[in-house]
Amino acid sequence: MAEIKQPSAMTQSTTNGAHPPGSEPGIAAERPPDAPSAHRPRYAHIVGWGHHVPGKVITNQELEQIVDTNDEWIRSRTGIAERHVAADPKETSASLAVAAARKALEVADVPASKIDLIICSTTTPEHIFPATACLIQDALGAHNAGAFDLSAACSGFVYGLAMARGHILAGDAEYVLVIGTETLSRIVDWTDRETCILFGDGAGAVLVAASEVPGGIMSVDLGSDGSGGNNLILPAGGSAMPTSLETVSSGMHYVKMDGKAVFRFATRVMASSTRKVLERAGYTTDEVDLVVPHQANIRIIQNSVLNQLKIPAEKVFVNLEKYGNTSTASIPIALCEAIEAGKLEPGYKVVFVGFGAGLTWAACAIDWRTPVEKPETGWWKNTRRQATYSAAAARSMWRRAVRWVYEVLPDPEAPGRDESREKTPAEAPVKESTPERVRE
Ligand code: COA
Repeated sequence: MAEIKQPSAMTQSTTNGAHPPGSEPGIAAERPPDAPSAHRPRYAHIVGWGHHVPGKVITNQELEQIVDTNDEWIRSRTGIAERHVAADPKETSASLAVAAARKALEVADVPASKIDLIICSTTTPEHIFPATACLIQDALGAHNAGAFDLSAACSGFVYGLAMARGHILAGDAEYVLVIGTETLSRIVDWTDRETCILFGDGAGAVLVAASEVPGGIMSVDLGSDGSGGNNLILPAGGSAMPTSLETVSSGMHYVKMDGKAVFRFATRVMASSTRKVLERAGYTTDEVDLVVPHQANIRIIQNSVLNQLKIPAEKVFVNLEKYGNTSTASIPIALCEAIEAGKLEPGYKVVFVGFGAGLTWAACAIDWRTPVEKPETGWWKNTRRQATYSAAAARSMWRRAVRWVYEVLPDPEAPGRDESREKTPAEAPVKESTPERVRE
């Protein structure tokens, strides 16, 4: 794993080499050598990041062929010029997530076997169950990880970071993989010009690691207001409105949105949530070096972050022109591109802030300590990495094969095999004394 820089050592060389979390040089001397690990300070740092988007791009001009809209309207009302969509059926929320997660592990130089927990935030899971996080766990070969999906819509990635931080600070995990992944093109109504112009597909992932170096995710703010649930909703397919011919024919399996209501809510909570995390971390707005906001609409970012918080535009990273609103994936994708663009350095104070369906909102303040230089990727590392991908696939196939063998082998416990064993209540004959209605 890359060395996380200590606040006092910001000017020192970063080439001290990899070391396990919690063993950073300099920290050990500050505590008694025999201090129990539970009493040592713990911090949660982002140490790896990666993103992946599908290859197919739909421009505003192409949308003009699909719905009654135009490039000028979309650009001026949203700031969006194009979006990536998962046109290939093989591109799914899990496949995009796995690609992003592998890049994050590569940056962190941490093998998948070390991950303790995978949190996948998505509104477009592969299935209602099993969790998409479990499919990602299997594909990565993260055989020591717990895995679950998190449903907080566009705020989900920051919710996931808050969960990761909590697990790490509690001492329950050393490495937590947090992923935001979406294939919104599959749930958008391509005849509804008010929604289809907004959304795009993609995934972003970060690896959060425990460390004794002060810094990392310093404060979080999570909020919700379910009274606004109907403002942004996918009505059918859940237990309230199970999928039926009727729900499909009436388009209830598509996103429904009251754009104006969401806009008003978003501009309010983006500013207030940012203020809260800054206050909790002890930072002023002037001290913020970089804001990575949810990429929904440039006017929302302008009204909240720029106008209300008075944070200058050069400190606010925006890439929604290229991707549209990728929901929970938008912040990690923007983070990766901000790093690529040289907008982030160790020592920077960073804010992530988002909002979305629920209604939900979330922000976190980060004291960024991880070096952002691209890690060296020699042939040996690449070969080793490819080998771990193959090993993960082989392991998954092996486990499926073992399950299949168990299914086809005759079950020695099957009824009729052993007449002497005691019958289960279900197999026992219904007693004559059983009341009629129970026997039925
Ligand atoms: N192309 C052209 N015209 C469109 C259009 C489109 N794609 N969509 C709507 N219009 C029309 C409307 O029908 C309306 O026409 P009218 O005045 O004749 O009735 C006009 O444009 C203005 O519509 P309005 O809804 O007032 O636009 P707006 O400025 O509120 O922008 C949104 C609409 C959706 C871009 C904006 O409300 C928004 O971004 N809301 C937040 C949505 C969001 O972020 N959702 C995700 C949350 S995570």
